[in-house]
Amino acid sequence: MMKTKGLVLAVSAVLSLGVMGSAAAADGAALYKSKTCFSCHGQDANTPIMPTYPKLAGQNADYAYNQMMDIKSGVRNNGQSAAMKGIMAMVTAEEAKAIAEWLSTQ
Ligand code: HEC
Repeated sequence: MMKTKGLVLAVSAVLSLGVMGSAAAADGAALYKSKTCFSCHGQDANTPIMPTYPKLAGQNADYAYNQMMDIKSGVRNNGQSAAMKGIMAMVTAEEAKAIAEWLSTQ
């Protein structure tokens, strides 16, 4: 039991270092795929499947992060935000931050 807990702590320490360090961009890219963001916003984050969906590539990281969190919480809520809200239930604040950092570099 103690061993498992130690391992979990070690893994999360490595993960948080990764988010803070140079691995953040890579994590963001992987998350963008694994969380299926690309299915609406395009593989390159610049070719959304609908003309009315936003392009995300090159967006300011803080702005993108805040929009994700507002869509997740429901603060940002128009006809289109509903499409994305379901996905955001599976994205943590930390993951959103990593994706936002990566998006800003695209
Ligand atoms: C089912 C389609 C869909 C999926 C999947 C999706 N989004 Fe979105 N996303 C949208 C739509 C539609 C909007 C515009 C919402 C609005 O008009 O308020 C949006 C808005 C955004 C915005 C705000 C853009 C801006 O300029 O204000 C960001 C950032 C974003 N999405 C990131 C993501 C990320 C990261 C993921 C994956 C975790 C994701 N989206 C998954 C459809 C989707």
